[in-house]
Amino acid sequence: MAIFLDTGNLQDIERFLKMGVIRGVTTNPSILLKSGVTGGKKAIKARSIEIAKMIAPYPLSVEVTTNDYGQMISQAREYAKWAENIIVKITVHGPKGEMENFEAVHLLETKDNIRINMTAMMSAQQCLLGALAGATYVSLFGGRINDMGTNCVNEIGKARRVIDAQDLKAKIMIGSTREVLNVIEWLDAGAHIVTVVPEILKKLIVHPYSKETVQMFLDDARKAESIIGK
Ligand code: E4P
Repeated sequence: MAIFLDTGNLQDIERFLKMGVIRGVTTNPSILLKSGVTGGKKAIKARSIEIAKMIAPYPLSVEVTTNDYGQMISQAREYAKWAENIIVKITVHGPKGEMENFEAVHLLETKDNIRINMTAMMSAQQCLLGALAGATYVSLFGGRINDMGTNCVNEIGKARRVIDAQDLKAKIMIGSTREVLNVIEWLDAGAHIVTVVPEILKKLIVHPYSKETVQMFLDDARKAESIIGK
Protein backbone atom coordinates (compact mmCIF):
# COMPACT_ATOMS: atom_id res chain seq x y z
CA MET A 1 0.00 0.00 0.00
CA ALA A 2 1.36 3.43 -0.85
CA ILE A 3 0.43 7.08 -1.10
CA PHE A 4 1.52 9.04 -4.16
CA LEU A 5 1.19 12.80 -4.59
CA ASP A 6 -1.09 13.94 -7.44
CA THR A 7 0.56 17.23 -8.34
CA GLY A 8 3.17 19.04 -10.39
CA ASN A 9 3.96 21.50 -7.62
CA LEU A 10 7.64 21.26 -6.66
CA GLN A 11 7.30 22.76 -3.17
CA ASP A 12 4.55 20.30 -2.22
CA ILE A 13 6.53 17.35 -3.59
CA GLU A 14 9.68 18.38 -1.71
CA ARG A 15 7.77 18.93 1.52
CA PHE A 16 6.01 15.54 1.60
CA LEU A 17 9.10 13.73 0.33
CA LYS A 18 11.15 15.12 3.24
CA MET A 19 8.40 13.94 5.59
CA GLY A 20 8.82 10.41 4.22
CA VAL A 21 5.14 9.83 3.50
CA ILE A 22 4.97 9.62 -0.31
CA ARG A 23 6.26 6.86 -2.60
CA GLY A 24 5.67 8.44 -6.00
CA VAL A 25 4.14 11.34 -7.94
CA THR A 26 1.45 11.43 -10.63
CA THR A 27 0.67 14.21 -13.08
CA ASN A 28 -1.57 14.76 -16.06
CA PRO A 29 -1.91 17.74 -18.45
CA SER A 30 -4.60 19.38 -16.25
CA ILE A 31 -2.48 19.04 -13.11
CA LEU A 32 0.63 20.47 -14.82
CA LEU A 33 -1.37 23.41 -16.11
CA LYS A 34 -2.70 24.04 -12.58
CA SER A 35 0.88 23.84 -11.28
CA GLY A 36 1.96 26.65 -13.60
CA VAL A 37 3.50 24.59 -16.41
CA THR A 38 2.43 26.71 -19.36
CA GLY A 39 5.46 26.71 -21.67
CA GLY A 40 4.37 23.91 -24.01
CA LYS A 41 6.20 20.60 -24.55
CA LYS A 42 9.55 22.07 -23.48
CA ALA A 43 8.08 23.10 -20.13
CA ILE A 44 6.44 19.68 -19.60
CA LYS A 45 9.79 18.03 -20.28
CA ALA A 46 11.70 20.35 -17.97
CA ARG A 47 9.22 20.00 -15.06
CA SER A 48 8.99 16.21 -15.50
CA ILE A 49 12.77 15.78 -15.46
CA GLU A 50 13.00 18.02 -12.40
CA ILE A 51 10.36 16.02 -10.50
CA ALA A 52 11.79 12.66 -11.62
CA LYS A 53 15.24 13.65 -10.36
CA MET A 54 13.82 14.95 -7.08
CA ILE A 55 11.89 11.78 -6.23
CA ALA A 56 14.14 9.04 -7.74
CA PRO A 57 13.94 6.07 -7.38
CA TYR A 58 10.23 6.61 -6.74
CA PRO A 59 8.11 6.68 -9.94
CA LEU A 60 6.71 9.72 -11.72
CA SER A 61 3.71 9.32 -14.06
CA VAL A 62 3.66 11.68 -17.06
CA GLU A 63 0.74 11.62 -19.51
CA VAL A 64 0.98 11.72 -23.30
CA THR A 65 -0.59 14.85 -24.81
CA THR A 66 -2.19 13.21 -27.83
CA ASN A 67 -4.59 10.42 -28.73
CA ASP A 68 -3.09 9.74 -32.14
CA TYR A 69 -1.74 6.17 -32.13
CA GLY A 70 1.63 6.93 -33.76
CA GLN A 71 2.19 10.04 -31.68
CA MET A 72 1.30 8.23 -28.44
CA ILE A 73 3.95 5.63 -29.24
CA SER A 74 6.64 8.16 -30.13
CA GLN A 75 5.84 10.38 -27.12
CA ALA A 76 5.95 7.38 -24.79
CA ARG A 77 9.35 6.37 -26.18
CA GLU A 78 10.60 9.95 -25.78
CA TYR A 79 9.31 10.32 -22.18
CA ALA A 80 10.85 7.00 -21.19
CA LYS A 81 14.27 8.39 -22.11
CA TRP A 82 13.91 11.43 -19.81
CA ALA A 83 14.55 9.43 -16.64
CA GLU A 84 14.57 5.81 -15.50
CA ASN A 85 11.72 6.37 -13.03
CA ILE A 86 9.25 7.80 -15.57
CA ILE A 87 6.00 5.91 -16.08
CA VAL A 88 4.04 6.88 -19.19
CA LYS A 89 0.35 7.59 -18.71
CA ILE A 90 -2.00 6.65 -21.53
CA THR A 91 -5.78 6.98 -21.22
CA VAL A 92 -7.93 3.84 -21.35
CA HIS A 93 -9.34 4.96 -24.71
CA GLY A 94 -9.75 8.10 -26.77
CA PRO A 95 -12.38 10.84 -26.35
CA LYS A 96 -14.67 9.04 -28.82
CA GLY A 97 -13.98 5.58 -27.44
CA GLU A 98 -11.03 4.86 -29.75
CA MET A 99 -9.49 1.58 -28.58
CA GLU A 100 -6.04 1.80 -30.22
CA ASN A 101 -4.81 2.90 -26.79
CA PHE A 102 -4.87 -0.77 -25.76
CA GLU A 103 -2.68 -1.69 -28.70
CA ALA A 104 -0.27 1.09 -27.77
CA VAL A 105 -0.10 -0.02 -24.13
CA HIS A 106 0.45 -3.67 -25.09
CA LEU A 107 3.20 -2.79 -27.58
CA LEU A 108 5.02 -0.39 -25.25
CA GLU A 109 4.90 -2.75 -22.27
CA THR A 110 5.75 -5.98 -24.08
CA LYS A 111 8.09 -4.87 -26.89
CA ASP A 112 9.62 -1.60 -25.64
CA ASN A 113 9.74 -2.51 -21.96
CA ILE A 114 8.21 0.88 -21.07
CA ARG A 115 6.08 0.98 -17.94
CA ILE A 116 2.57 2.30 -18.54
CA ASN A 117 -0.02 3.77 -16.21
CA MET A 118 -3.36 3.27 -17.99
CA THR A 119 -5.53 6.09 -16.77
CA ALA A 120 -8.99 7.72 -16.70
CA MET A 121 -10.62 4.40 -15.78
CA MET A 122 -14.09 4.37 -14.25
CA SER A 123 -14.76 0.66 -13.69
CA ALA A 124 -13.31 -2.66 -12.54
CA GLN A 125 -13.86 -4.09 -16.01
CA GLN A 126 -11.60 -1.44 -17.56
CA CYS A 127 -8.97 -2.22 -14.91
CA LEU A 128 -9.04 -5.93 -15.74
CA LEU A 129 -8.70 -5.29 -19.47
CA GLY A 130 -5.85 -2.83 -18.90
CA ALA A 131 -4.11 -5.37 -16.68
CA LEU A 132 -4.53 -8.06 -19.36
CA ALA A 133 -3.02 -5.69 -21.95
CA GLY A 134 0.05 -5.54 -19.70
CA ALA A 135 -0.20 -2.14 -17.98
CA THR A 136 1.99 -1.75 -14.89
CA TYR A 137 -0.63 0.49 -13.25
CA VAL A 138 -4.36 0.78 -13.88
CA SER A 139 -5.77 4.07 -12.60
CA LEU A 140 -9.33 4.53 -11.39
CA PHE A 141 -10.74 8.03 -10.80
CA GLY A 142 -12.55 7.52 -7.50
CA GLY A 143 -14.10 10.97 -7.09
CA ARG A 144 -15.43 10.97 -10.65
CA ILE A 145 -16.90 7.45 -10.23
CA ASN A 146 -18.64 8.57 -7.04
CA ASP A 147 -19.85 11.74 -8.82
CA MET A 148 -21.69 9.48 -11.28
CA GLY A 149 -23.55 7.76 -8.43
CA THR A 150 -21.51 4.52 -8.30
CA ASN A 151 -19.51 3.74 -5.16
CA CYS A 152 -15.89 3.38 -6.27
CA VAL A 153 -15.13 1.17 -3.24
CA ASN A 154 -17.02 -1.66 -4.96
CA GLU A 155 -15.08 -1.14 -8.20
CA ILE A 156 -11.74 -1.21 -6.32
CA GLY A 157 -12.64 -4.46 -4.55
CA LYS A 158 -13.83 -6.17 -7.73
CA ALA A 159 -10.79 -4.99 -9.70
CA ARG A 160 -8.41 -6.28 -7.01
CA ARG A 161 -10.08 -9.68 -6.82
CA VAL A 162 -10.05 -10.36 -10.57
CA ILE A 163 -6.51 -9.06 -11.04
CA ASP A 164 -5.22 -11.15 -8.12
CA ALA A 165 -7.14 -14.22 -9.27
CA GLN A 166 -5.28 -14.15 -12.59
CA ASP A 167 -1.97 -13.23 -11.05
CA LEU A 168 -1.61 -10.15 -13.28
CA LYS A 169 1.20 -7.72 -12.46
CA ALA A 170 -0.91 -4.52 -12.64
CA LYS A 171 -1.14 -2.38 -9.53
CA ILE A 172 -4.45 -0.62 -8.90
CA MET A 173 -3.98 3.10 -8.45
CA ILE A 174 -6.87 5.35 -7.50
CA GLY A 175 -6.91 9.12 -7.81
CA SER A 176 -9.44 11.93 -8.04
CA THR A 177 -9.51 12.26 -4.26
CA ARG A 178 -12.19 14.57 -2.92
CA GLU A 179 -12.30 13.93 0.84
CA VAL A 180 -9.89 12.97 3.62
CA LEU A 181 -11.70 9.69 4.25
CA ASN A 182 -11.06 8.54 0.66
CA VAL A 183 -7.44 7.62 1.32
CA ILE A 184 -7.76 4.98 4.03
CA GLU A 185 -11.11 3.80 2.69
CA TRP A 186 -9.74 3.17 -0.80
CA LEU A 187 -6.55 1.48 0.44
CA ASP A 188 -8.66 -0.68 2.74
CA ALA A 189 -10.90 -1.60 -0.22
CA GLY A 190 -7.90 -3.08 -2.05
CA ALA A 191 -6.17 -0.28 -3.97
CA HIS A 192 -2.38 -0.72 -4.07
CA ILE A 193 -1.88 3.03 -4.33
CA VAL A 194 -3.95 6.14 -3.65
CA THR A 195 -2.67 9.26 -5.37
CA VAL A 196 -3.66 12.26 -3.30
CA VAL A 197 -3.77 15.99 -3.98
CA PRO A 198 -1.59 18.01 -1.55
CA GLU A 199 -4.56 19.82 0.05
CA ILE A 200 -6.05 16.50 1.16
CA LEU A 201 -2.73 15.03 2.31
CA LYS A 202 -2.27 18.07 4.58
CA LYS A 203 -5.72 17.49 6.07
CA LEU A 204 -4.88 13.82 6.61
CA ILE A 205 -2.06 14.79 8.91
CA VAL A 206 -3.36 17.85 10.75
CA HIS A 207 -6.33 17.15 13.04
CA PRO A 208 -8.03 19.97 14.99
CA TYR A 209 -8.23 17.86 18.17
CA SER A 210 -4.53 16.93 17.90
CA LYS A 211 -3.77 20.67 17.71
CA GLU A 212 -5.80 21.31 20.85
CA THR A 213 -4.15 18.38 22.66
CA VAL A 214 -0.65 19.50 21.75
CA GLN A 215 -1.45 23.02 22.93
CA MET A 216 -2.65 21.56 26.26
CA PHE A 217 0.66 19.65 26.64
CA LEU A 218 2.68 22.78 25.89
CA ASP A 219 0.66 24.94 28.32
CA ASP A 220 0.96 22.34 31.09
CA ALA A 221 4.66 21.85 30.37
CA ARG A 222 5.22 25.58 30.89
CA LYS A 223 3.30 25.41 34.18
CA ALA A 224 5.21 22.30 35.37
CA GLU A 225 8.56 23.85 34.46
CA SER A 226 7.74 27.04 36.36
CA ILE A 227 6.75 24.99 39.47
CA ILE A 228 9.97 22.94 39.26
CA GLY A 229 11.88 26.18 38.70
CA LYS A 230 10.59 27.52 42.02
C1 E4P B 1 -5.37 11.33 -11.75
O1 E4P B 1 -4.62 11.62 -12.69
C2 E4P B 1 -6.09 12.37 -11.02
O2 E4P B 1 -6.54 12.00 -9.78
C3 E4P B 1 -6.99 13.18 -11.86
O3 E4P B 1 -6.49 14.47 -11.77
C4 E4P B 1 -8.46 13.21 -11.61
O4 E4P B 1 -8.77 14.02 -10.56
P1 E4P B 1 -10.04 15.00 -10.58
O5 E4P B 1 -11.26 14.18 -10.82
O6 E4P B 1 -10.06 15.62 -9.21
O7 E4P B 1 -9.80 15.99 -11.66
